[in-house]
Amino acid sequence: MGVWVLLVGILLHGVALCNGGITSSFVRKTGMSVDMPLDSDVFRVPPGYNAPQQVHITQGDHEGRGVLVSWVTMDEPGSNTVLYGTSKDKLEFRAEGIVTSYKYYNYTSGFIHHCTLKKLEYDTTYYYEVGIGNTTRQFWFRTPPKVGPDVPYTFGLIGDLGQTFDSNSTLTHYESNPIKGQTVLYVGDLSYADNYPFHNNIRWDTWGRFVERSVAYQPWIWTAGNHELDFGPEFGERVPFKPFTHRYHVPYRASGSTSQLWYSVKRASAYIIVLSSYSAYGKYTPQYQWLEQELPKVNRSETPWLIVLVHSPWYNSYNYHYMEGETMRVMYESWFVQYKVDLVFAGHVHAYERSERVSNIAYNIVNGKCSPVDDTSAPVYITVGDGGNIEGLANNMTEPQPAYSAFREASFGHAVLDIKNRTHAYYAWHRNQDGFSAVADSVWFFNRYWQPDN
Ligand SMILES: *[C@@H]1O[C@H](CO)[C@@H](O)[C@H](O)[C@H]1NC(C)=O
Ligand SMILES: *[C@@H]1O[C@H](CO)[C@@H](O)[C@H](O)[C@H]1NC(C)=O
Ligand SMILES: *[C@@H]1O[C@H](CO)[C@@H](O)[C@H](O)[C@H]1NC(C)=O
Ligand SMILES: *[C@@H]1O[C@H](CO)[C@@H](O)[C@H](O)[C@H]1NC(C)=O
Ligand SMILES: *[C@@H]1O[C@H](CO)[C@@H](O)[C@H](O)[C@H]1NC(C)=O
Ligand SMILES: *[C@@H]1O[C@H](CO)[C@@H](O)[C@H](O)[C@H]1NC(C)=O
Ligand SMILES: [Fe+2]
Repeated sequence: MGVWVLLVGILLHGVALCNGGITSSFVRKTGMSVDMPLDSDVFRVPPGYNAPQQVHITQGDHEGRGVLVSWVTMDEPGSNTVLYGTSKDKLEFRAEGIVTSYKYYNYTSGFIHHCTLKKLEYDTTYYYEVGIGNTTRQFWFRTPPKVGPDVPYTFGLIGDLGQTFDSNSTLTHYESNPIKGQTVLYVGDLSYADNYPFHNNIRWDTWGRFVERSVAYQPWIWTAGNHELDFGPEFGERVPFKPFTHRYHVPYRASGSTSQLWYSVKRASAYIIVLSSYSAYGKYTPQYQWLEQELPKVNRSETPWLIVLVHSPWYNSYNYHYMEGETMRVMYESWFVQYKVDLVFAGHVHAYERSERVSNIAYNIVNGKCSPVDDTSAPVYITVGDGGNIEGLANNMTEPQPAYSAFREASFGHAVLDIKNRTHAYYAWHRNQDGFSAVADSVWFFNRYWQPDN
């Protein structure tokens, strides 16, 4: 993947070397995380001929009244229909989707179905069924409340999950967290199939079966990471993001985007912008133009909480992927300050870190102003690439801890963001070693638009 690493080395780096925050004294046992074997319980294929598997949902429109249901059938295309309704026994509505498939080196995918349920009632539990004949499967989800400034809503934050025993522990901790996440904001790097020879895409299927127990029941909002590239020119695979874009559809057109890799959704009191670290983002590129038009559209009287998801962090004090997010930061950071983005969540670095509210927008390479400064209009940057994938923990930190870094710890875990109203959101990070309700780092966030002085 070396070709994808940007030439950050040529940029002077802006890191203050004093007055740092907390480096947690908690030290996790080291040692590699190993993938769960193919015959693990979490990878079990559901019984029945052509049974739908890898069922997953995500938001299906811009406002929260749509749900995009996806699933895979292995034996034959089967049905593209989703039956759904508000009563378990009476699935009175139906929607028709599409089916796709792809080949990757010598792997041929199953039949990948995508079907959007539209114009659902807000704040309502729906039951839905996929499959036909004897092998139907039923699941349920709850739609979010209507978009509004004081609507409480709870997001989970998971990144770089993979499919190791640690990944399973992270997902279990998320599911068992007493602060019940209603939607996951997923910050990229899903299956890590690319760790296998020829990116053995069977590991995309196992990942889909592993996470079904959560994502069939609540939407995960997808961000693409470097492990979604699946770029293998050495064995003839030259189309980046092929498995990911076939398997994980998102409602990008609803936000005027031209690519699955960057888009936005509104959900309850939050406006969520998803960016792609591994797509062009320089001036005049489609992603740049889209973001430039997107930020002014956010109405903070409607959605006070402006949240950005991006895989590669802009503020990262670990010696892993150090400065990789720097060129994207230089392109977009001044916009984030101008539009008072509240929070930026990233993954990529397999550890946890939370920043102070800082910006580094005065810096222009030659003026020497290379240290981030306190900035009340700036977002807090949070790295949650600690899902527990096969590559193991990032435990080598830059020393001393830079001033912009408020808290950092090399442990696997997940976080939750519990939005209370337009001014207050409670945020907590949980490490996998602890009990389900133990909190390892927490903070109250005050909204940048409604309570900027705090
Ligand atoms: C694909 O190629 C790999 C490596 O040669 C081999 O191990 C695997 O069995 C092949 N898979 C299929 C489906 O042919
Ligand atoms: C459904 O299951 C029944 C009982 O096991 C079987 O007799 C029937 O052939 C099955 N139908 C189909 C379409 O597979
Ligand atoms: C994964 O976690 C679940 C829930 O804790 C557990 O039931 C299952 O046995 C675990 N599987 C593996 C392979 O660790
Ligand atoms: C912003 O949202 C509020 C609340 O829904 C609405 O009253 C107002 O008209 C919107 N402003 C714009 C510019 O659309
Ligand atoms: C930590 O990273 C630094 C910088 O890349 C490197 O020089 C050092 O050897 C690393 N330390 C360990 C223990 O790996
Ligand atoms: C917003 O939520 C916080 C935390 O629950 C609470 O203290 C505050 O009073 C709420 N604000 C309003 C206007 O209700
Ligand atoms: Fe990554």
